[in-house]
Amino acid sequence: MITLLFALLAAPAAAAPSLNADVETQVQDLLSRMTMDEKLGQLQQLDGLADGTARPEQAELARKGLLGSVLNVRGAANVNALQREAVEHSRLKIPILFGFDVIHGYRTVFPIPLALASSWDPALVKDAARTAAVEAEAAGVRWTFSPMVDIARDPRWGRVAEGAGEDPYLGSVMARAWVRGYQGGDPSQPGRVAACAKHWVGYGAAEGGRDYNTTEISERTLREIYFPPFKAAVDAGVLTFMSAFNDLDGEPASANAFTLTQVLRGEWKFPGFVVSDYKAVDELISHGVAADGADAARLALTSGVDMEMVSRDYASNLPALIQAGKVPASAVDEAVRRVLRVKFLLGLFDRPYADQSRESIALFSAENRAAARRAAARSLVLLKNDGNVLPFSKALKSVAVIGPLADDRAATLGSWTGDGRAADARTVLDGVRAALPRAAVVVSTGGAIGALSDLDISSAAAAARAADAVVLVLGEMADMTGEASGRSTLDLPGRQLELARAALSAGKPTAVVLLGGRPLALGALLNAAPAVLEAWQPGTQGGDAVADALFGDANPGGKLTMTFPRSVGQIPIYYNHKNGGRPASDKYYSSKYIDGPWTPQFPFGWGLSYTTFTVSGLAVDPVSISAGGRSDVRVYVANDGARAGDEVVQLYLRRRTADVTRPVAELKGFRRVSLKPGEDARVDFTLGPKELGFLDRDMKFAVEPGDYDITVGTSSVGGLSARLTVAP
Ligand code: GLC
Repeated sequence: MITLLFALLAAPAAAAPSLNADVETQVQDLLSRMTMDEKLGQLQQLDGLADGTARPEQAELARKGLLGSVLNVRGAANVNALQREAVEHSRLKIPILFGFDVIHGYRTVFPIPLALASSWDPALVKDAARTAAVEAEAAGVRWTFSPMVDIARDPRWGRVAEGAGEDPYLGSVMARAWVRGYQGGDPSQPGRVAACAKHWVGYGAAEGGRDYNTTEISERTLREIYFPPFKAAVDAGVLTFMSAFNDLDGEPASANAFTLTQVLRGEWKFPGFVVSDYKAVDELISHGVAADGADAARLALTSGVDMEMVSRDYASNLPALIQAGKVPASAVDEAVRRVLRVKFLLGLFDRPYADQSRESIALFSAENRAAARRAAARSLVLLKNDGNVLPFSKALKSVAVIGPLADDRAATLGSWTGDGRAADARTVLDGVRAALPRAAVVVSTGGAIGALSDLDISSAAAAARAADAVVLVLGEMADMTGEASGRSTLDLPGRQLELARAALSAGKPTAVVLLGGRPLALGALLNAAPAVLEAWQPGTQGGDAVADALFGDANPGGKLTMTFPRSVGQIPIYYNHKNGGRPASDKYYSSKYIDGPWTPQFPFGWGLSYTTFTVSGLAVDPVSISAGGRSDVRVYVANDGARAGDEVVQLYLRRRTADVTRPVAELKGFRRVSLKPGEDARVDFTLGPKELGFLDRDMKFAVEPGDYDITVGTSSVGGLSARLTVAP
């Protein structure tokens, strides 16, 4: 049976929030009645307390109309208490906008974004965002600082966990999915929140993988690699941006008129507002481009940062700067206009309060937890499965669950978990016990990762010897990834490799489950372990999802969206690299290493299954087009194994010659396909100017005459090839 599947093309973008005439009239009317202090109040975001309540002084600021937004105040009662001060007691009754980092779930925690991206299932990501929005909005949060759409090519950087990986095309598809899941068609509706594309821009290129570090990115690379997911977010109607901490080619991202105004406003016509990252305005002093807070305020505002997060340089300095003619009052007005526009589009004036009756119903429902479990299962990537060790039989009489993360709730939940609670997280040990209620489960979790003792290692070996099969849970603790968690190595932290070797020495069927937020250099572990399942940080239901895969109730179908290096020394290493004049080969004078392979451990797009698939029948029609023409690409994929499963069919382009150097491969289409044993499907892609064009020597987007190699396969390596010619 052949199913006709059309690839998810760059689906027509939802219109960016058009300048609604009625909203603009209300904005202008309100702006015209505001004092300068009230205007500056709208450009100020302050931080609440960790417990979700507002700071005492914030009630007075709200009453005076001097507080436009807060972050971290959450919970319907806490939000409404502060909102009442603004809406019922301030002069103009402008509602406060409540923001919070809902990065991969609010109370029900989904897998981290890098895991969700590994599902190659934008519909899944959209649904996860939708669920997070419903929970967050019920708790009074109307704005999430998500999605993080930074392209990341360096796994030493801890924040790769929060993004979609190294590719601009996949990153763009996921950015669209996140924004549409959060905002829907009308963000003023209950269950919707404003999204925030962050961190604008280039943050993921931090030198050395050290967070907040300097970045040097050519305009060509900015526009072709780092901008696209942000542009996709704008096209999907994202209401806000967040400016980044890093400096970019000598200009801090939070004082960069080129990116904040020329590109974002001039080229992209973005109508929403830009909030700085946390104190990033004041950090312009540390960057050395501002002498003091007044300088910082002037630079940030006039470059295009509309709202200041937490630091108070705008409120403290702009009145005098305007008085002195150093900052035009019009710059403040335009920033306030943008903030008010978003508040109107969010329906805040009509519906400023949280509905406390909805909060208890919406949060952590069985339905949401089931969705989180399914998302976690679809995000798993089977890296290795020699001898089809996995899935284990459910008839096992005994199974050993070993490793410091096997019962670590925080490591399972993730690195930025909103209002999620580690106590709720289902660990791998929980999942195995639930999946095999009658089996003997031998547990050896040992000490903390950094303190594994000889006894822990010997007990791991003993546990493995005592069981019929072994689940080894290894990787990183929750606080080893995420913000400010750069690592200088990618090895398994602590003595985990020793522990793994001890367990493997028992010679039992053994599967390694990796928990963590970044690609690791698996090296010796990989040589020793027959099966390795990448589970990332799988969220509240992570342990059950992992058990679903370990015992065959789920067949892993995820694919890597970041290259796995063999060693940290290979970084930067990514699939869409340039060919160079002497590409790496066995030749002496070539771009190789003298002390090891130049190829990755696992390439972008890699992932195995419990079944096997065959891709066949690649056809390109027509094989020659004009510069503005389109060509249809068709391929068949068949499940020729004995178990139902998913495959991700991926289409890559390579432009052999052009007037600039081009990557050796560029992802331009993908489709995750579910097939029963013996089933096959046809997958269709269409290639047109959007996919074929690139920036020429003059930085103009063009489709140049020439040849393209089209490769369609199941990872960025290998596949079927054909040629497409763009005729002069
Ligand atoms: C943090 C992060 C940013 C987050 C913000 C508010 O430092 O860089 O991603 O949204 O501050 O918590």
